[in-house]
Amino acid sequence: MAETTTSTSSIPSVMKAAQQSNYGEIRSVLTLHDDVPVPRKLSSKEILVRIYAASINPIDWKLLNGNLSLISRFSFPHIPGSDMAGVVVDIGSAVKRFKLGDEVYGNAGISGGSYAEYVCANESIFALKPKNLTMEEAAAVPLACETSYQALFSKVSPAVGAGSKVFICGGSSATGFFAIQLAKAVGAQVATTCSQRNFSLLEKLGYKITQNKDEINNDQQQLLVIDYNAKDFGRELSGQNYDVVYDCVGGEQQWISAQQILKQGGQFITIVGDDTKSIVSLKSIASTTSTVIGRKLSSVFGSNHHGYIIHFLNQVPEELDDIRTNYIETGKVKPLIDTIYDWRKDGVEALHSLYEKSKSGKAQGKLILKIANEK
Ligand SMILES: NC(=O)c1ccc[n+]([C@@H]2O[C@H](COP(=O)([O-])OP(=O)(O)OC[C@H]3O[C@@H](n4cnc5c(N)ncnc54)[C@H](OP(=O)(O)O)[C@@H]3O)[C@@H](O)[C@H]2O)c1
Repeated sequence: MAETTTSTSSIPSVMKAAQQSNYGEIRSVLTLHDDVPVPRKLSSKEILVRIYAASINPIDWKLLNGNLSLISRFSFPHIPGSDMAGVVVDIGSAVKRFKLGDEVYGNAGISGGSYAEYVCANESIFALKPKNLTMEEAAAVPLACETSYQALFSKVSPAVGAGSKVFICGGSSATGFFAIQLAKAVGAQVATTCSQRNFSLLEKLGYKITQNKDEINNDQQQLLVIDYNAKDFGRELSGQNYDVVYDCVGGEQQWISAQQILKQGGQFITIVGDDTKSIVSLKSIASTTSTVIGRKLSSVFGSNHHGYIIHFLNQVPEELDDIRTNYIETGKVKPLIDTIYDWRKDGVEALHSLYEKSKSGKAQGKLILKIANEK
């Protein structure tokens, strides 16, 4: 249980928080401060949350280095971070969904603010925290899990369900391992790409790995895995008639290979697109637009009618509620954690290492920033 604060008089006037001074390299622009004012003016629908843990997603370092500054400009200094878990310590006059002392989890989106001891944000970005998770585990869930939840259950049509055949590109990524568990939870048949070094990660979730498509049986714990360093999944599973390929890796090759395994009318949904660096410029917008239009046209006029969808998370608080009650508290979906960084012990180095490990693309589970102790 977290230490709950139900009296606003115990909220300090300043807090420890990360600050970004400009767009640029992690170690040049990211600092840690003890004297950042706690946001105390709440609008009617806002809540103030004492944060216990936060996590990082690739969007956080993409925002830091300015790759996305065309669509999201910060005023500096800026408090970065989006995923978090904590306790409600103050509420605006029209807040409906929470009361003081509630444990919550959520994602602050590109406006940031979660790498701090307190954040003030609209109640709509939060939901009650899953009771069976620690604060660190809960902070690992919101963005990655909800992105995959939306992709599989509301963006593809029909939604992934019992008997669907789903292929997930990047099963060891955070979005990937949540997607595997969500799809399995509704009875889909799932296969994925994952390097050999990460097979043990998927085994931690209780899956029995097979690399041979002819060994597939009705065991729901069985997972077909293609080692992407050794084989191309398109060639390996050619003609296997998948309903959906969900791409958590990006790059044109995922789409090329997907077309070899999708059934007629099957759908490819990507959360990355062809440009894995996600640099948003006028040129890249024009190029992505023409690629998407071309692929959508080929889904109508091409011989295989393969659907092509680029998906960006659009937060819906009821979805975090559904993830909590129907998937996490039932034990069907679990977060995996690689490292917990603690800035009270390691100072700014904890923050820099958090970003650098995420940027390396080699995390084996979620990377967490511990902000306060749970009691
Ligand atoms: N559109 C949206 O709303 C949205 C939301 C969330 C995330 N995203 C994007 O989705 C991507 C994944 O995010 P994430 O948080 O899930 O990433 P992550 O957890 O940081 O992914 C790291 C993992 O990806 C694996 N990987 C790297 N290259 C691979 C490949 N070619 N094939 C298979 N696996 C590979 C790595 O395994 P190895 O060590 O074996 O290489 C590692 O386990 C990022 O680009 C992110 O920006 C988009």
